[in-house]
Amino acid sequence: MERVRIGTAAAPNGSALRIIAEHRDARGRLLPRRIAAVELLNILRPTVAVDRFIVFAALALHDHPHWRERLREDGGGELTETFVQEVRRYYPFFPVAVARVRRAFDWQGHHFPQGRRVLLDLYGTNHHPELWPQPERFLPERFAGRTPDPYAFVPQGGGEHLAGHRCAGEWITIELMKRAVTNLTSTMAYQVPPQNLAVSLRRMPALPPSGFVIDQVRSTA
Ligand code: HEM
Repeated sequence: MERVRIGTAAAPNGSALRIIAEHRDARGRLLPRRIAAVELLNILRPTVAVDRFIVFAALALHDHPHWRERLREDGGGELTETFVQEVRRYYPFFPVAVARVRRAFDWQGHHFPQGRRVLLDLYGTNHHPELWPQPERFLPERFAGRTPDPYAFVPQGGGEHLAGHRCAGEWITIELMKRAVTNLTSTMAYQVPPQNLAVSLRRMPALPPSGFVIDQVRSTA
């Protein structure tokens, strides 16, 4: 941050680094150096974390190869979005959101005393059989032509974005995943050598033990 501010480090116009380094508050003051650095990390960290979902998208293409051709033809359109949404529903990335009760309340016959730690089961909600028919099947079609219910579809937190703390980066996540799926299906060919692709729910955030190793990669663009 300091080097960008004094001009000894390059930061392209419009980059997060430059915008945050040069941001001024209502009184015209720059952000304290440490706060500015944390704000930059708040952009970088979750953006890098999307690679987990991209691994799961690659795994979904491997497990359901008939989707490759359909997605290649779709070229990042609506079908790709349904595929990406189903990846976010089906695969276990972020298992729970944790909170502590600030003011006691009752909800659906349960008492929540002040100070009690509570977990919102994101994975369980995304696989609840009353909300999702055949929840253990990978069916991107279930997202076709519908806006997902913000209380049933909770891969990055639940509820409304504007009223709560649901992830502000969901749209960025979806776009990055769509681009990755389009790259994997339209611009490259590859082989998937034998490896352990079983996903254990004991690992947080979850990932196949081998990651997702590909070889014989060729450009087809
Ligand atoms: C791997 C993808 C991601 C996952 C699994 C994820 C997950 C989450 C979760 C669970 C929350 C808390 C929701 C709640 O308390 O109800 C959250 C909040 C947040 N996320 Fe993400 N996120 C991801 C990507 C991103 C990206 C790419 C950005 C932006 C670059 C981002 C920005 C934020 C912000 C700013 C908040 C705080 C919102 C608030 O407190 O009002 N996230 N995220």
